[in-house]
Amino acid sequence: MTEPARSRKSQELADHWNDRYENNPASKLSWFQESSPEVEFITVNVGKATPVIDIGGGLSPLVHQLIDEEFTDLTVVDVSEFALEQGQRKAEGRQVEWIQSDLRDWTPARMYGLWHDRAVFHFLTEREDQERYIGMAAEALVPSGYLILGTFSENGPQSCSGLPVARHSIDELTTALAADFTVIDSHIQEHVTPSGGVQEFAWMYAVRN
Ligand SMILES: C[S@@+](CC[C@H](N)C(=O)[O-])C[C@H]1O[C@@H](n2cnc3c(N)ncnc32)[C@H](O)[C@@H]1O
Repeated sequence: MTEPARSRKSQELADHWNDRYENNPASKLSWFQESSPEVEFITVNVGKATPVIDIGGGLSPLVHQLIDEEFTDLTVVDVSEFALEQGQRKAEGRQVEWIQSDLRDWTPARMYGLWHDRAVFHFLTEREDQERYIGMAAEALVPSGYLILGTFSENGPQSCSGLPVARHSIDELTTALAADFTVIDSHIQEHVTPSGGVQEFAWMYAVRN
């Protein structure tokens, strides 16, 4: 696992998420889902050798579903080394690059053909971090590469996992992406949490210009 030197704020964030993952069963976490529906879009639209990155992958099933689909160039970045170690163990030695990093300090070292983020972008509450993130995705995606972004909508929760979040409407996200991306699909999804609550997500599917 790649581990850069950490700032204090990144260490605090890592501690927060490690604690969440270590002290709660995965199936009780509010963002838990058995499988990632986005895999259907990915398998239909990109080849199995396409470099795919899952941003803030945590314990998401996405990378494991893509391994099962025989994707060969997979990367997961997350601030929580605990989650990454769990993912690595579950992948049973299959070739995945696991990167421990705080997105706010991180710069991708290579290009990707598909960038996936479910429930991570909304933790960037500072406009500067949000703009940097979108610029970073644009820089790291090859022309015609795909961006899949699922984030709390304007009607979503105001906090998650004990942290404040920023909520975004589809219109706002469409504008934020306009300089570098063409939006090919956007929709609202209601995620039902393990305790039965409903969280509204805005999903953006876009292509790098
Ligand atoms: C709500 S969970 C979503 C996990 C996963 N994407 C899923 O759908 O199951 C948010 C994830 O983002 C990670 N995360 C939050 N802020 C981060 C940051 N600034 N840099 C890197 N990872 C971050 C957390 O460790 C956690 O795994």
